[in-house]
Amino acid sequence: MSQIEEIKSKIDIVDLVSEAGVKLRHAGKNYTGFCPFHDNKRSPAFVVWPESGTWRCFGACNEGGDIFKFVMKREGLDFKEALRKLAARAGVELTEFQRETPEAREAYDHLRKLLEDAVIFYRTHLFNNKAILTYLREKRGLTDATIETFGLGYAPNGWDNALKHFTARGYSEQDLIDSGLLTVREEADSRNTQHATSRSIPVGRTYDKFRNRIMIPIRDEQGRMAGFGARVVDPDDIPKFLNSPETPIFSKGRILYGLDRARKPIRTADQAVIVEGYLDVIALHQAGYENVVSPMGTALTEDQLRLLKRSTRRIVLALDPDVAGQKAILRGLEAARSAMDKEGELGFDARGLLKNEARLQADLRVAAIPDDLDPDEIVARNKEEWAKIIEDAKPIVTHVMETLAAGQNVNDPKVKNQIAAQVLPLIEDLPSPLERDTYRQALARMLRVDERSLMGTQARGPVMKRKPRGALSSPKAEATVAAVNPVLRLESFFVGIVLRAPELVYQVDRKLEESNLSALAVDDFEYTDHQIIIQTIRQSLEQVDRDYHAYVMAGLPESILPLANELLAESEKFKQNADALRDDLLRAVKKMRLTRAAEQITQYRYLQEEAGEQGDARAAEFENEIARLIKLRMYMDRMKF
Ligand code: CTP
Ligand code: MN
Repeated sequence: MSQIEEIKSKIDIVDLVSEAGVKLRHAGKNYTGFCPFHDNKRSPAFVVWPESGTWRCFGACNEGGDIFKFVMKREGLDFKEALRKLAARAGVELTEFQRETPEAREAYDHLRKLLEDAVIFYRTHLFNNKAILTYLREKRGLTDATIETFGLGYAPNGWDNALKHFTARGYSEQDLIDSGLLTVREEADSRNTQHATSRSIPVGRTYDKFRNRIMIPIRDEQGRMAGFGARVVDPDDIPKFLNSPETPIFSKGRILYGLDRARKPIRTADQAVIVEGYLDVIALHQAGYENVVSPMGTALTEDQLRLLKRSTRRIVLALDPDVAGQKAILRGLEAARSAMDKEGELGFDARGLLKNEARLQADLRVAAIPDDLDPDEIVARNKEEWAKIIEDAKPIVTHVMETLAAGQNVNDPKVKNQIAAQVLPLIEDLPSPLERDTYRQALARMLRVDERSLMGTQARGPVMKRKPRGALSSPKAEATVAAVNPVLRLESFFVGIVLRAPELVYQVDRKLEESNLSALAVDDFEYTDHQIIIQTIRQSLEQVDRDYHAYVMAGLPESILPLANELLAESEKFKQNADALRDDLLRAVKKMRLTRAAEQITQYRYLQEEAGEQGDARAAEFENEIARLIKLRMYMDRMKF
């Protein structure tokens, strides 16, 4: 994927255009507003299509384009300048266009040739081995045509079959190491052996990586050999699957198994299906479902989704219901953490998936596979069942909601609260206001509550204590979900921890400052009681240099003690070490600030609209404030903690 595409996928054109001061309004899937490039305040002739990331003025300008064109025109930049500007905004590092050097190209082609020869080598051993062949045919139901098509093979038992075979045919030991067919024994000096170009491997320290395994050739999306996946034959062997190591031509995070064959079918079906296993891909292709690929035993990466996005935006994850449903999704803070820790890795957790769905403007759905079966077992028992399962795939949030609601009575207010508590944080994490609205509506429909009651839990902020006319919920509706306010949860978590270990506030401050963010402030908290506690902690930290906890507790107003004790007791269940706690606190602050900024943006938009309608000069001020908040949000979104 080109850097231009990457930048496009990371910048929401609606945000970009809004930030430039164009007030956009919903019009179905699109947005309309007054064209910023020509003077006409009567008819809104400017249209933005978020899905394709494009805009057009149907009025006097009769011009349109993508985000680059917009910035070029708006700011009078040339393409290169616009590219630099938007790259910085998207957090994409522009590398000057690099071609493979002719030497590198030659070296890679040589390795690919070796791997191509290895496919033939392993294939020969497979067709000489009755037992393995019978296993593939009878136990796995693969036809000989499928075995040929996917180039399956067998690596014979023994330490040096491949080594001997290929060195006898003119390949060097180093070639074998570089391509991942040979492993260098670990006790060898790592400085000499890890390096791909090293020529100084002592003889006798290498051995065949793949022994007594079924070999599955892995090709890149262009069909060039990249590596192997290797499945055990003997169930006692571990690991069950052994993959080629990362090499210059094999990067697990950038290749999807089966994509070389699936690419066309994906385009034709305008849909890609992701499963978890190699053998599932093979069985599904054999059954006629050719739009199927899999990652290679690692979490799905953003790069992999991008690869698919070139052919379709409709992507279905066909997952074990356990993984997609309960386990991964309901881990709360823990899930947020793992999603944030591993940049670019999605895992199969709802938070990570949703973020990327929005960012990539993909349509990600989850298909749950029934009865604890693998996809290959499903097609073996009934081919048509697979089509049905894929057809029934649900958008991620719907899937989470339904998994949570399964077998529960959603008319029960308690259940409503519980489900909202799980799903709202996922929704609030989404970068695009449009997506947030859409999912909030869906949640409200499913819980049969007034959508505004979901909004109500977040609609507090410093800008407007008074309610805008009719914009917010009635107190009654608010009460339905008041208990699940995610901000309350975050603040309670934070306050509980720092009551126990007040010195963590210093560490949080330091980390915030390292990221150019302001230190923790009383204002970061919405609840007065929390503000008082934080204030007391701040004072105590200044006044004494140890026994902070006791000092803080003694300094708290009596009316706050019951709450403080409750939060302290709650905090006992967080047993991670100080560094992990500090990082959790940081994430909580980030989340609190992001939520706050989002609320303020909504409120300012409302104020700006009103001011605009009344010709009030403050409209421009509000606009600036909105732009600042959007920038702040984007900046914080990129924070690594
Ligand atoms: N995997 C891996 N390493 C392992 C186990 C699994 O890399 N030790 C990856 C492989 O890509 C595998 C996928 O995870 O294809 C799914 O694992 P599993 O369900 O165990 O394998 P299947 O492909 O279903 O294999 P089989 O049906 O032969 O058991
Ligand atoms: Mn399986």
